[in-house]
Amino acid sequence: MLNQKVNSYYQRPGEMSGLGRFITVEGGEGAGKSSNLAFIQALLEAAGKQVLFTREPGGTPLGEAIRELLLGHKHTGMADDTELLLMFAARAEHLQRKILPALEQGAWVLCDRFTDASFAYQGAGRGIADDRIALLERFVQGALRPDLTLLLDLPVETGMERAGNRSQPDRFEREAETFFNKVREGYLRIAAREPERVRVIDASPALEAVQKQIVDVMQGYLDSLDG
Ligand code: TMP
Repeated sequence: MLNQKVNSYYQRPGEMSGLGRFITVEGGEGAGKSSNLAFIQALLEAAGKQVLFTREPGGTPLGEAIRELLLGHKHTGMADDTELLLMFAARAEHLQRKILPALEQGAWVLCDRFTDASFAYQGAGRGIADDRIALLERFVQGALRPDLTLLLDLPVETGMERAGNRSQPDRFEREAETFFNKVREGYLRIAAREPERVRVIDASPALEAVQKQIVDVMQGYLDSLDG
């Protein structure tokens, strides 16, 4: 059962004093997520925040075991609903064991992917209806949503070229270009619907130009909290 404090956080995400903020980063293949996540963490730490960096699916021992089931090649024919439920099982564990306790202690949680990825990959990509995913979102998260999401966006072809050198593609990386186009469109639809929370970063130029956009967004966000 969720404790009282967590319940109130669920009801008023990001608004309770003394709580950390929940920042997520999303993006398709080859969008430069890893280096940009390290950059964002450094920016937050330079601003004096205590940062917990984590990822989905994963982030806890059980979550990482579920990640192996999802990304490995042992269960290639997994049903779409199973895939979705495993994502949310890992997420429930992650939230209750790691993310919420950290937020309660005032840490800022920086998470490599979160529920937007379920809407983009399992929703737009696999074709599961949004309302079914929203049902699980509500079940697992209550009203908790990220406070800020950076979407690293770039054309699928460019991303695939960049990611092309990776040796062992996982179960998702083996998907075809049409799948990733649907995923990208799914992400962009979320950003269009929630422009305040989801900031689109053009990830196609060179790293420096991408980082400049990230600095602008992060600085703007930090300033908005001070004001
Ligand atoms: P990563 O490659 O960014 O580590 O993410 C692992 C894969 O899991 C990536 O291909 C996206 C996918 N994924 C989903 O399909 N749904 C989700 O809810 C999450 C968090 C990730």
